[in-house]
Amino acid sequence: MLTGKHVTVFVTGGIAVYKAADLVRKFIKAGAIVRVAMTESATKFVQPLTFQILSRHEVYTDTFDEKDPNNVSHIHLADWTELAVVVPATSNILAKMAHGIADNMVSTTLMATTAPRLIVPAMNQNMLENLATQANLETLRSFGYTIMEPDTGFLAEGYEGKGRMPEPDKIAEAAHQLLIKTSSDLPLKGKNVLVSAGGTIERIDPVRYITNDSSGKMGYRLAEAARDLGAMVTLVSASKLEHPFGVTVKEVQSAREMQAELMASFDEANIVIMAAAVSDYRPVNQADRKMKKTDTDIQINLEENPDILATMGQLKNKQFLIGFAAETNDVEKYALDKLKRKQADMIVANDVSKADAGFNKDTNEVIIIQPNHKPIHIDTDTKEAIAKEILQIAINNLKL
Ligand SMILES: Cc1cc2nc3c(=O)[nH]c(=O)nc-3n(C[C@H](O)[C@H](O)[C@H](O)COP(=O)(O)O)c2cc1C
Repeated sequence: MLTGKHVTVFVTGGIAVYKAADLVRKFIKAGAIVRVAMTESATKFVQPLTFQILSRHEVYTDTFDEKDPNNVSHIHLADWTELAVVVPATSNILAKMAHGIADNMVSTTLMATTAPRLIVPAMNQNMLENLATQANLETLRSFGYTIMEPDTGFLAEGYEGKGRMPEPDKIAEAAHQLLIKTSSDLPLKGKNVLVSAGGTIERIDPVRYITNDSSGKMGYRLAEAARDLGAMVTLVSASKLEHPFGVTVKEVQSAREMQAELMASFDEANIVIMAAAVSDYRPVNQADRKMKKTDTDIQINLEENPDILATMGQLKNKQFLIGFAAETNDVEKYALDKLKRKQADMIVANDVSKADAGFNKDTNEVIIIQPNHKPIHIDTDTKEAIAKEILQIAINNLKL
């Protein structure tokens, strides 16, 4: 959702300015194009150079610093902005925004932009509770601006209280949600997408397990792609990858845990994507204590795990069900067979014997098999690009 978006971060003079630097980094990492405007007070806490390097662009601090004769810089920045984030927002900027005061680069640009505004107040608890601040917040809410609730915790003043700036992850998440709310052209807006990812772990004892080479990358890219198309995404993950923002992640280990989490979200799901490599078998006995070495060979008996995709195929009503097939030979033939056996709506098949496809790679090459359709071959590309194509084909079929 943030990919390619023009985000302007308006930094005002609170002690939490240093955290705004991390937020800029997160926006950039999420693919946004970021500009930063700072008040004079903000520059006393952190040098503009820090934000310049993180945003890869000169920081705006002076309304009258008109470098380009072809445009007026605060109007140019206001028009360029697709999302305005005021962070940390001082009691002073809240008052200015509530009363239409435009007396520096930050307040003037905020007056001139029509972009949605996300405001992140951060201040001493008494400043926050001051009736003037509360009235200003109420006014800003009545303008339709989104205001984040400050966190409670250890304040810079050395005592516990309300007024802390929420962590950058939470703000990035709120920015994402605001962009979804204010976008009208997202094909998966209001839809639930359920994704599984990673290789399940089947315990032998507390320190040993059976697993496979799946990294979870394909499932994570699918979850992110669905999120960027406006969906509410639940990712049931047996992977150790960093949680993507804007996605509800449920961590699991075993196939049975994965099944329980998936089934808990199955009814509401519109699209289900089973990208996890679920272990077919698990040890019959799972020792409570570490197994001791003996002088003889040992045997580990395995029993079958539930077939999650097939169960979903039987239960589905509205869900568009996508399965994955990792094969090393006769890929198309096995995938078509899997499509029928599991009653899936699509099988994404990949040849895991290929050097640049399948487990643990950043690229993939897949064949998409659907009932009554010719197979679609997608040549080697990043998993991110392939995830987008898979979802686009699903959306076209679903006619959402
Ligand atoms: C050390 C220090 C910390 C401050 N922290 C905050 C703060 O967290 N929140 C706030 O609203 N004001 C804070 N202030 C006060 C603002 O910096 C002051 O109101 C300033 O005029 C705000 O200007 P600006 O809104 O143009 O950035 C702090 C001031 C100092 C000296």
